[in-house]
Amino acid sequence: MDLVEITDENWRAVADVAPRDDQRRYVAALAASYLLLSDRERVWTSLGISEGDQIVGHIMWGEEEGIAWIGGMVIDSEYQRRGFGRAAMERMLHRLPHREVRLSVHPDNTAAIALYDELGFKPTNMWDDDEQVYALRR
Ligand SMILES: CC(C)(COP(=O)(O)OP(=O)(O)OC[C@H]1O[C@@H](n2cnc3c(N)ncnc32)[C@H](O)[C@@H]1OP(=O)(O)O)[C@@H](O)C(=O)NCCC(=O)NCCS
Repeated sequence: MDLVEITDENWRAVADVAPRDDQRRYVAALAASYLLLSDRERVWTSLGISEGDQIVGHIMWGEEEGIAWIGGMVIDSEYQRRGFGRAAMERMLHRLPHREVRLSVHPDNTAAIALYDELGFKPTNMWDDDEQVYALRR
């Protein structure tokens, strides 16, 4: 598993990354939305999650006032439950030098919360619309 920059060669494959239908209440229906967000607003930086030649997911990161944020974490429905989500998060956290990393997650998204909990993220009392902000301080 690798985190890869978005390139002329891989952007279509990253754009096609899609969650399961029942997960569309938690994330965009296609990673294409996140690619556009990264491209147009320049707040987030998208990365592809690859395994060999295959793109299996999308993740993005940003920074605000010295605090890093992770968002847009989607493993394509075909590739879930094979350890890619955990590996991508670990790799992303390793790359980010910040003392605090935040993300937001819907309270019903128990699969994602289980993963974030295992990585040491703790719920905060901050909310971003209907998503609770979790923080990892290190
Ligand atoms: C959350 C998500 C990224 C996890 O990716 P993944 O590659 O399937 O996860 P992994 O195989 O690395 O599993 C890591 C841990 O996540 C949790 N998990 C993943 N899928 C799960 C499921 N269907 N049910 C319960 N727990 C689950 C488990 O704690 C798991 O650890 P375990 O295998 O030791 O039980 C993936 O389910 C996904 O893309 N979901 C839709 C998008 C989303 O909700 N993103 C998060 C937005 S905040």
